[in-house]
Amino acid sequence: MNPFYLIPHTPKAYFCDRKKETEDLLGFVDNGSNVTLISPRRYGKTGLIYHVFDHLSARKKKPELFYVDIYATANVDDFIAVFAESIARVLKKESVIKSFLKFLGRIRPVISQDPLSGEAKYSFTLDTDADRRYSLKALLDYLEQRPTKVIVAIDEFQQIREYTGMSMEALLRTYIQPLTNVQFIFSGSRKHMMAEMFTYENSPFYESASLYTLDKIDRDVYARFIQEQFVNQSKCITQEAVDYILDWTRCHTFYTQTLCNRVFASTRKEAALVDVLMAADAILKEYQDTFLERRSLLTPRQWKFLIAVAKEGEVKEPTSAAFLQKYGLGAPSTASRLLDSLVEKELLLETKSLDGSSYCVYNVFFSRWLERL
Ligand SMILES: Nc1ncnc2c1ncn2[C@@H]1O[C@H](COP(=O)(O)OP(=O)(O)OP(=O)(O)O)[C@@H](O)[C@H]1O
Ligand SMILES: [Mg+2]
Repeated sequence: MNPFYLIPHTPKAYFCDRKKETEDLLGFVDNGSNVTLISPRRYGKTGLIYHVFDHLSARKKKPELFYVDIYATANVDDFIAVFAESIARVLKKESVIKSFLKFLGRIRPVISQDPLSGEAKYSFTLDTDADRRYSLKALLDYLEQRPTKVIVAIDEFQQIREYTGMSMEALLRTYIQPLTNVQFIFSGSRKHMMAEMFTYENSPFYESASLYTLDKIDRDVYARFIQEQFVNQSKCITQEAVDYILDWTRCHTFYTQTLCNRVFASTRKEAALVDVLMAADAILKEYQDTFLERRSLLTPRQWKFLIAVAKEGEVKEPTSAAFLQKYGLGAPSTASRLLDSLVEKELLLETKSLDGSSYCVYNVFFSRWLERL
């Protein structure tokens, strides 16, 4: 079996590190505090939430755990349906689901089966905003009266800012605030939006959760983990190969896992640098079409700017004369507009530290592909 998982819910034995982060999140849960988990995409927020849930379910006094992914929701109605589905998925037992539906009272959902996953899909007919308020409150009230403590993780939380129709932020805050039996983990990758929601004084969620930033996994810890996973499956990998993997994927969890998964799959006994190079090439080849598609969605200038950043790897002063001249990118004023648009499109990742911002191409594989152009 391949020990390098590519799905967020990774079994403990194949989950790399995050010991401190797990402890910290468990600490928030135990201290009754809501927490907001923030990191760039694909660092491992969802994986960590599941990992923390696994820890909590192994306890003697286990809380009830609900995971709600609102990535694909566009309005309050979608949110309510996805939330109800997540609750029903955990309740499982028919009699409990019946009592849940009874609790919802006048907002009876139509329940169908997802043809692919086989799971229950809920759809509500919510004609008025009063209906929406009623249903959202009913769902939260239901969790509030459960006999055991309830933890709800709402993943991709920034999505509520994109909702059309009613303001979800204010609504949710009003209903969440009085709850005593239900705690929340809010998770999201749009740092500005998340920070705005939880740290701006005039935002509904101001100071209603502790902010927690997830960093990359420590390089040495990741290196040891990769070696161990090979050895545990009676294979091995050279130090040189591991170093190359971590450099090439910049220790960015999803990309590191993907490359490791490939290298492991193509190794019979010992993985060496040449195997890593071949696996990396194969990955870039597979993504080529999607990368080319992105080009058609960008202006030639944006494209040129991306290539320049990719070739540099990391750029600290993207509007400096030195950088702009080196790649023929035009005047600083245009460059700063290009920069903003590429960050907004999540094609460039801005990392802030005490000594200023730096930029890199967000998707590591895309970056590695662009730098070869
Ligand atoms: N600690 C870990 N050990 C091993 N693999 C991990 C770990 N954390 C995450 N992963 C892997 O990396 C992938 C990306 O992680 P995950 O989906 O949790 O990131 P995310 O931050 O939620 O991303 P997004 O913002 O895109 O939702 C997962 O599919 C999983 O395979
Ligand atoms: Mg996620």
